[in-house]
Amino acid sequence: MPQATSLSVPHLLGIKDLTREDIELIFDTAATFKEVINRPIKKVPSLRDLTVANLFFEDSTRTRISFELAEKRLSADVVNFSASSSSVKKGETLLDTVNNILSMKVDMIVMRHPAPGAPHFLSNRIKANIINAGDGTHEHPTQALLDAYSMREHFGDLEGKKVAIFGDILHSRVALSNIFCLKKLGAAVKVCGPPTLLPKYIASLGVEVEHDVEKTLQWCDVANILRIQLERQDIRYFPSLREYALYFGINKAMLDRLPKPILIMHPGPINRGVEITSDVADSEHSIILQQVENGVAVRMAVLYLLAGAR
Ligand code: CP
Repeated sequence: MPQATSLSVPHLLGIKDLTREDIELIFDTAATFKEVINRPIKKVPSLRDLTVANLFFEDSTRTRISFELAEKRLSADVVNFSASSSSVKKGETLLDTVNNILSMKVDMIVMRHPAPGAPHFLSNRIKANIINAGDGTHEHPTQALLDAYSMREHFGDLEGKKVAIFGDILHSRVALSNIFCLKKLGAAVKVCGPPTLLPKYIASLGVEVEHDVEKTLQWCDVANILRIQLERQDIRYFPSLREYALYFGINKAMLDRLPKPILIMHPGPINRGVEITSDVADSEHSIILQQVENGVAVRMAVLYLLAGAR
């Protein structure tokens, strides 16, 4: 088992707060847990004394199931909360809801919330450790950790690797967390998408900005392709999905024109035929399902390390 060495933070609110040493400790711990979850008996007793509540105020498939599996593989007691079937609908505040759950002797909170900063707000008001499972358009730290872990598994080291993030950067918490994580690990990062979907401040984060998809594909070792987040778009940022697919979608013919193969990644959910065609998503260079597999080990590592510091 990994040494019970703790992180420099009591909560995982965002990658911005982590040191490179924190990230490397999470990766080394995740590698141990990846070995565990590939055994016939996929469970260790590390968190058997702890209770974790998964509070999801926004839809999720991958993150929610991945956290629940990670907690169960660590032998924690798990409770799941979905805002759509809770007393939040009757007007209860976030803080009251969480304090009521904590009074039932819950030790750790995993929370997804549509409001940027919601987990930060709670972290100043409650005693339990909090893991941000995505706060609005702000950060999705465990997604960035599992993405970088998956790249590291492929390349060994991210120092100097060229990673391009394509698509709707403006509304993406995955993009922001990935940028913080990759920069801390020494990778070069480029963002590529229509000008309306790239925030004006983005270059100040130390990334290059490009609007030409083929040029960016030529440059990169990794293409991390993001979904158009229509649910967060209150105005039109491009004329139609068909037009977006035509000018910013990534297809197999583009990959075939490259001098070398590149790694294809996507955090999911995929919109096949919009930002990525099926033959790219399912190609031999796609590690989309490995990302999902690694998510369980990475989340086990985060839970284990935060619990170790309690
Ligand atoms: N990648 C990701 O966060 O997916 P879900 O919204 O399904 O959790």
